[in-house]
Amino acid sequence: MTVRADHAALNRGYRDDEAAAVRGPLARAHWAATEPRWGLWAPPESQVSMLPDDIVGTHAIDVGCGTGYVSSWLARAGAHPVGIDISERQLATARAMQARFGIDFPLLLGDAEHVPYADDTFDLAISEYGASL
Ligand SMILES: C[S@@+](CC[C@H](N)C(=O)[O-])C[C@H]1O[C@@H](n2cnc3c(N)ncnc32)[C@H](O)[C@@H]1O
Repeated sequence: MTVRADHAALNRGYRDDEAAAVRGPLARAHWAATEPRWGLWAPPESQVSMLPDDIVGTHAIDVGCGTGYVSSWLARAGAHPVGIDISERQLATARAMQARFGIDFPLLLGDAEHVPYADDTFDLAISEYGASL
């Protein structure tokens, strides 16, 4: 398999141009949701149990956090999330949502292939249609 050396730059350009335009307008509704809903068909957390039962105090990383709503749900539930995303435009939306909803957590601009934390920093890693792509 050939991996292009500039794949991260290509990915960032795509995410800035297209993903931010598509995902950005959905951010406010996602942040406002009182219960997490997952993926394209949006089943509620109460039906699918994606998250551990007790996440209070859990250190979590949201890999390809986009507009940051998954991290916002984790923070509301008492976890300590960090969001990382390769797109500055996605993170700009996430920051605007943090200000609007009064929920704060670290947002890092970076490539999830090179997370700037030690391996044992987090108890939970989550990626909702994010860097897993
Ligand atoms: C389809 S969006 C979904 C993210 C989030 N669930 C949302 O709706 O905002 C995919 C996200 O993954 C990010 N992403 C893709 N590859 C990445 C990588 N290698 N490192 C960090 N973020 C990445 C993109 O910038 C984008 O914000």
